[in-house]
Amino acid sequence: MKYPTSMMVAIFSFCIVIISSCKEVGDDTATIATTVPANLNAIETILPDAPGYTSFKMNCMSCHSARYIKMQPNLPEKAWTAIVTKMQKSFGAPFSDSSAREIVQYLVAIKGKK
Ligand code: HEC
Repeated sequence: MKYPTSMMVAIFSFCIVIISSCKEVGDDTATIATTVPANLNAIETILPDAPGYTSFKMNCMSCHSARYIKMQPNLPEKAWTAIVTKMQKSFGAPFSDSSAREIVQYLVAIKGKK
């Protein structure tokens, strides 16, 4: 089967467009990759150790980082209880009521206010 030259040129040009657009995507990816910090641990927020820390780490860092706790002022136990209950009931964090109590004790210990 024989195709007219103009059709061959059209197909060839089409291929060139596709190939060159692929190369652009690749270049963008390379740019993004180089802007990621080399050591993610350097920007991780580490909170002090106290009873309940394990429970906190297991249940409170799946949706957001510990920075959310660091950003808060020192709060009374009532306020921490309200926040933990909101995470559990409104946002659907899957932890038990006994874990919630442990976590509140932990938060009061590290960021509590009389
Ligand atoms: C199911 C996902 C999820 C889990 C698990 C979770 N959170 Fe949150 N948290 C959220 C969302 C969503 C917000 C609101 C984010 C926003 O407003 O930008 C939030 C916000 C917060 C804030 C900011 C203040 C506020 O009241 O909005 C604090 C403090 C906080 N979470 C603490 C906790 C603690 C402590 C735990 C563990 C008991 C926890 N979170 C577990 C989803 C979660």
